[in-house]
Amino acid sequence: MDGAGGIQVVGVVGLGTMGAGIVEVFARGGLTVVATEVDEVALERGRSRITGSTDRAVARGKLSPGQRDELLARITFEVGMAGLGDVDLVIEAVPEQLDLKRKIFAALDAVCKPSAILATNTSSLSVTEISVATARPNRVIGMHFFNPAPIMKLIEVVRTVVTAPEVVAEIEGLCARLGKVDVTIGDRAGFIANALLFGYFNHAVAMYEGRYATREDIDAAMRLGCGLPMGPLALMDLIGLDTAYEILDTMYRRGGRDRRHAPVPLIKQMVTAGLLGRKSGRGFYTYEKPGSPKVVADDLTPTGEAADAPAGRPVYKIGVVGSGTMAAGIIEVFARSGYDVVSVTRGTEKSARLVERLRASLDKAVMRGKLAEAARAAAVTRLTWSAELDDLADVDLVVEAVVEELSVKKALFASLDEICKPGVLLATTTSSLPVIECAMATQRPRDVVGLHFFNPAQVMGLVEVVRTIRTSDDAVDTARMLARSLGKYPVVCADRSGFVVNALLFPYLNDAVRMLEASYASADDIDYAMKLGCGYPMGPFELLDVVGLDVSLAIQRELYLELREPGFAPTPLLEHLVTAGYLGRKVGRGFRDHAR
Ligand SMILES: NC(=O)c1ccc[n+]([C@@H]2O[C@H](COP(=O)([O-])OP(=O)(O)OC[C@H]3O[C@@H](n4cnc5c(N)ncnc54)[C@H](O)[C@@H]3O)[C@@H](O)[C@H]2O)c1
Repeated sequence: MDGAGGIQVVGVVGLGTMGAGIVEVFARGGLTVVATEVDEVALERGRSRITGSTDRAVARGKLSPGQRDELLARITFEVGMAGLGDVDLVIEAVPEQLDLKRKIFAALDAVCKPSAILATNTSSLSVTEISVATARPNRVIGMHFFNPAPIMKLIEVVRTVVTAPEVVAEIEGLCARLGKVDVTIGDRAGFIANALLFGYFNHAVAMYEGRYATREDIDAAMRLGCGLPMGPLALMDLIGLDTAYEILDTMYRRGGRDRRHAPVPLIKQMVTAGLLGRKSGRGFYTYEKPGSPKVVADDLTPTGEAADAPAGRPVYKIGVVGSGTMAAGIIEVFARSGYDVVSVTRGTEKSARLVERLRASLDKAVMRGKLAEAARAAAVTRLTWSAELDDLADVDLVVEAVVEELSVKKALFASLDEICKPGVLLATTTSSLPVIECAMATQRPRDVVGLHFFNPAQVMGLVEVVRTIRTSDDAVDTARMLARSLGKYPVVCADRSGFVVNALLFPYLNDAVRMLEASYASADDIDYAMKLGCGYPMGPFELLDVVGLDVSLAIQRELYLELREPGFAPTPLLEHLVTAGYLGRKVGRGFRDHAR
C-alpha cells in the first residue's frame, strides 16, 4: 500500500447498526471488503442488514440490480478476524466499550500486516487509549461514520498525537474516493457532532422522563421548530439506546464530568429492559418489528380522542398587538385562515408600515402560487387597523407580540384585563419570559396562555402552547384548537424557560461556541459536521448569525438563571461578540462577515 488510493482491501469488524452500513459504503466505493463478526448468528444478521439495505436501494431506484450484485460480490463474510491478514485498512465497529475495543485492536495488531491502518468507529472513547493496545499506535486512527452510513456524507477523522501524518493523508484521500466529506480533528470525547448532540439528547430524555411534554411533542417540536430531520427521541431510537448510554457515560467521564452528560436514569432502565430502539423493535417508540423503521401505535400513542382537542371556546375575531416581524407574520396567518383580525399598534405610522409589510408578503405568496388572488383579497378585507387598545373590547382572543420586556408586557396585560370582555383568551408570544408574570398582571390568570410562534410565522409549522399553573383546561384546549385551525402543530408545555424548542436548542448553540472558543475546531468544520453528519438545515454558527447573537445571549442567560445549570452559562466568547456589536446578519457581522 503506497500513497493515496493505495487502500484496496478493507476489513470491517462488527456488522451491527454501523458496521453493516460501513461495509456497504466501502463496497459501493469499489473496494474489496472482508466483513467479520463474532459468531455465525451475528454474521447472518449482519449479512441480512446489508442485503436488506441494498435491496431497498434497488427498490428506490438508487441502485440497479446489476450494481447490487457487483457490490455484494465484493464482500466476503467471515467469523473471527483470522482472514484479515492481507487487508490495507480495517475498521472496527463493535460495541462502545473500551476493554472490548482494546482487545480487538491487540488481536488485529497480531493478525494484520505491519503496513495496515487500524481504524475505530468509536463515538466517544479515546482513540489514543485504543491505539496503545497495539504495537503500531502511529497507524491507528478514528474514522467516525454517521448513521445511516451509506447516506450521511460526513466522516470525522480523529488523529491522536502519535498518528502518522501519512496515515491521516491516506484516510482523507479514502474519504474523498468514497464521496464523503471529512473533518480532521484531535482526540476529544465526542469529537464534534456527538459532543454537541448528546447533551441535547439527554436533556430531551429528562424532559420526557419529567413528563414535561410527550415523546411525540418533543420530537415534533424539534422537527417543526428547527427543521431537523428527526426529533431527539426518534434519533436515539435509531442510534440505539445501549450505544447512546455508553456514549453518554464515556462523555461524562472523559468530558469533565459535566452533569448534562450523566445519563438520565430512564435510559439505563430502558436498556436493562431490552428496549434498545429500532434494532430491538422498541425504544421510545414501538416499531413494526426489530430493525424496522416503521413506527406502530402503542399504549402511549395519543388516541384519536386525545389527539383532537375538545373544541374549547369559539374564536371568530382576534386582536394582535404589536408591529414587529412576529406581529406581521401572525396577523397574516390569522387572516389567511379566515379569522377577522384587529391589529393594534402604537400609532398610524406604525400601522401604515405594517400594512405595507403585509401587502408585500401577500403579494409574494400570490406570485409564488401559494395563495389565490381571491383568497388574498378576502384576507385583506378581514383586517382592521387601529392605534387604540379599546378597539379590542369585542375580540375573542388577543395575541400580544410587543417588545420582549416584562414591564411592557405586564402593563399591556393589565390594560387588556380592563378592556376585554369576559371569557377572552389572552395570549403572549414571548419566547423567554415567564407567562405566569403576564397572567398575574390580570384578574383572570385562568385565561392567559403562551402562544409561541416561530419565525417566519407564515412558514413554520409549530406553535408552543404554554400553560401556566393557573391556566384553565379550556383555555389550553382553545389554544390547541386555534393552532390546528391555522394548520400548525400545537405542542403543549409547561411555563419553563425556553419551553421545549429553545431549551433544547440554545444550550447546543452555546456548546458550539464553547468548542470554537477552545480552538478544537473551526466554525466551518462545526457547521459542516452538523449539516453533513446530522442532516441539520444550518450549522450552529450559521443559525446564530441568523437568529442574532444578542437574542441568543438573552435566551441563554434566561435559561441559565432559571435552571442554574453550570453548563448553560453563556460562553465568554458569545458575550464578547455581543459587546463588540457583532450581532449577526442584521448588522453585517457575527461569527462570519456578511458585509461583503
Ligand atoms: N449507532 C450509531 O448511530 C453510531 C454512529 C457512529 C458510531 N457508532 C459507534 O460504532 C460502534 C458500533 O456501534 P453500533 O451502534 O453499530 O453497535 P451494535 O450493537 O449495533 O453493533 C455491534 C456489533 O458488534 C458485534 N461484535 C461484538 N463483539 C464483537 C467481536 N468481538 N468481534 C466482532 N464483532 C463483535 C456485535 O455482534 C454487533 O453486531 C460503537 O463504537 C459506536 O459508538 C455508532
